[in-house]
Amino acid sequence: MLQNKNILIGITGGIAAYKIPLLVRLLKLQKANVKVICTPAALQFVTQQTLSVLSEEPTLVDFFDPESGQWNHHVQLGLWADALVIAPCGSNTIAKMVSGQCDNLLLTTYLSARCPVWIAPAMDLDMFQQESVQTNLKTLIERGVSIIDAENGPLASGLSGKGRMAEPETIFTVLKDHFTPKNSQFIGKKVVVTAGPTYEAIDPVRFIGNHSTGQMGLEIAHVLSDWGAEVHLIMGPSHLEIPSHIKTTRVISAQEMFEKTQNAFIGSDMLIMSAAVADYRVEQTSPEKIKKSEEHLTLNLVKNMDILKSLSLSKQPHQKTVGFALETNNGLQNAVEKLEKKQLDAVILNLVSEHSGFKTPTNKIHIIHKDGRQKESEIASKSDIAHLIVETLNQWIFD
Ligand code: CTP
Repeated sequence: MLQNKNILIGITGGIAAYKIPLLVRLLKLQKANVKVICTPAALQFVTQQTLSVLSEEPTLVDFFDPESGQWNHHVQLGLWADALVIAPCGSNTIAKMVSGQCDNLLLTTYLSARCPVWIAPAMDLDMFQQESVQTNLKTLIERGVSIIDAENGPLASGLSGKGRMAEPETIFTVLKDHFTPKNSQFIGKKVVVTAGPTYEAIDPVRFIGNHSTGQMGLEIAHVLSDWGAEVHLIMGPSHLEIPSHIKTTRVISAQEMFEKTQNAFIGSDMLIMSAAVADYRVEQTSPEKIKKSEEHLTLNLVKNMDILKSLSLSKQPHQKTVGFALETNNGLQNAVEKLEKKQLDAVILNLVSEHSGFKTPTNKIHIIHKDGRQKESEIASKSDIAHLIVETLNQWIFD
């Protein structure tokens, strides 16, 4: 649930600062809004430009922008943030947080923040063991600051021990878990999501395809992952960028999608088929490019396997299957027929219109449960629709 969350990252001076661009990237891929404040010392280890490019926001250091004269308002920053994470957080900043000093923008923002605060301490092992540091950390915990514990391992000094900053992926997971809805039934559940079109080859350069972009399925995968599911996305040909934390298998044809989905569904809890699978393939793919020698060209098409139907009819009792029904007319009736014929737990009706269907940024759906419950959405962004779908399945499917 990191989407649209305002995450403020504070960076203090320490070698681990070089790892924070990766944290920014991970958060941005989840569509979080990220702003970064560096202490002046942090800039010896990471550049403002790198962080600005990745966060798509100016990286803040001073109270006043030296060029524009603009005031970086620490109170506004503190109120803007849904979460503040200071990483790496050195012993100097930890001590100042305890004593309430505010001689830089990061510390004043910390004092103004009303949101949850995490720090990821990073220092050499002997510094980390100092009683003063440990006492300061305890004080911060007592005051409600969460510590993302330092790790054991090689340190920049050449020594080895506890003091390394937690890895960016660990910090990312802490933030993600914080925003995961507490009523999520998806936590730890394995969900296979298919998305995108399939391409059925005619010859080495041509194919039969459709206009699906894969966006709806990708949005669903995003939200499920935010809700704590272990998602395996089976993606047909698509130009969309897929975040690295979503396990993805790319496929081209319906046959390939069937094989990969079938394998992924073994041991999974749910299948959501949002892919626009080609219903037919060319009976004989030409090994060479077909020349335009004849006036007419006839292609013999044969039916593709119905992936959803096949996997749904052979599912285990605990496995749930959800399909889409893309319709231009008689939507509800056709969707219910598909739900029954394919023995689905729920079907999502997608009526094709100028606001919904392929290649549109928005969608409008009906979700129909096998027991007859229905929910209808407004026209909304595919991301909002994905939230509605996951929220509804969370309530309905695991009853
Ligand atoms: N589907 C599938 N394998 C196919 C065709 C469709 O798994 N060969 C899945 C889709 O991913 C979707 C559901 O079945 O979840 C319904 O797809 P849709 O194209 O709406 O319906 P079809 O069953 O193909 O029937 P028709 O095209 O005749 O409407």
